Amino acid sequence: MPKRRRSPTSPLEIANRKTDEQFIIDYLEPRRPEIRPWINSWTHPETGAEYTLSLVRSEALNDDEITRCLHLIEQTSQKDYENSSSGWHPARKLKEMRSPGLRYILVKTKDTASLRGFTSLMPTYEEGQPVIYCYEVHLQTDLQGTGLGALLMGFHSTAASNLPPITKVMLTCFLANQRGLAFYKKLGFETDEISPVPRKLRYGKIFTPDYVILSKTVRSVLDSQPKLAKEQDPGPNPTPLASPASLTPKAG
Ligand SMILES: CC(C)(COP(=O)(O)OP(=O)(O)OC[C@H]1O[C@@H](n2cnc3c(N)ncnc32)[C@H](O)[C@@H]1OP(=O)(O)O)[C@@H](O)C(=O)NCCC(=O)NCCS
Repeated sequence: MPKRRRSPTSPLEIANRKTDEQFIIDYLEPRRPEIRPWINSWTHPETGAEYTLSLVRSEALNDDEITRCLHLIEQTSQKDYENSSSGWHPARKLKEMRSPGLRYILVKTKDTASLRGFTSLMPTYEEGQPVIYCYEVHLQTDLQGTGLGALLMGFHSTAASNLPPITKVMLTCFLANQRGLAFYKKLGFETDEISPVPRKLRYGKIFTPDYVILSKTVRSVLDSQPKLAKEQDPGPNPTPLASPASLTPKAG
């Protein structure tokens, strides 16, 4: 008799089994006024060109989309991979990009549906911590410096905020990617406690990491839920649900 598929009990497992439509409704729609809602279109601030945003599970990406995403990674980061201890291995990268549970936010031109940027994310446990892991964020050159990167990272924060027990967005960045590091710092990311540090290996060799693990803490939606009646007596001016700018966001 075939084994019955057990129902998921962990909130992260439940999230990872949702359809993309349901994932948007449950985790990317705002629960607090200061959180930026999910949007499915974006206009370039300088050229006025219109783009679509879509959420797609890795399993549903077609060959053209995944190849285009890989090419974008090659364009922006292949040199950093080649100069790192991990090296650049397109076949291995493609396999990682197809990981079940990974979701992509694709940015395409509205008129020709040409893929120009993407980010990918997954709710997961990293060394025991529940996080939204940002695997990648890459924009074609003409979309960089437009605010689009910050917009995409905001969706990671929204998902983290709406998916208790998650309270963090986490990612990996090569130390050689100084521009990427400056971007994440600007968004409030800091070196996470699990980020590797130089250490002595057997035979006295020193391991020096060429990447850093960054994270940003977000305020969970649970923090904005009304307290129990006994604890709460806000009088005529109830405490505001949230303070602003808590939008707090594995990228190579
Ligand atoms: C990294 C990347 C996604 C950032 O997206 P972006 O659209 O260029 O960034 P934004 O315009 O949204 O910038 C958001 C904020 O960060 C700041 N910022 C962006 N790049 C910065 C840099 N190199 N140094 C300092 N600040 C920077 C912006 O000034 C902006 O701040 P503001 O709101 O106060 O003006 C994009 O540049 C990219 O695709 N780069 C190549 C791929 C890459 O390196 N990905 C990261 C892999 S780890």
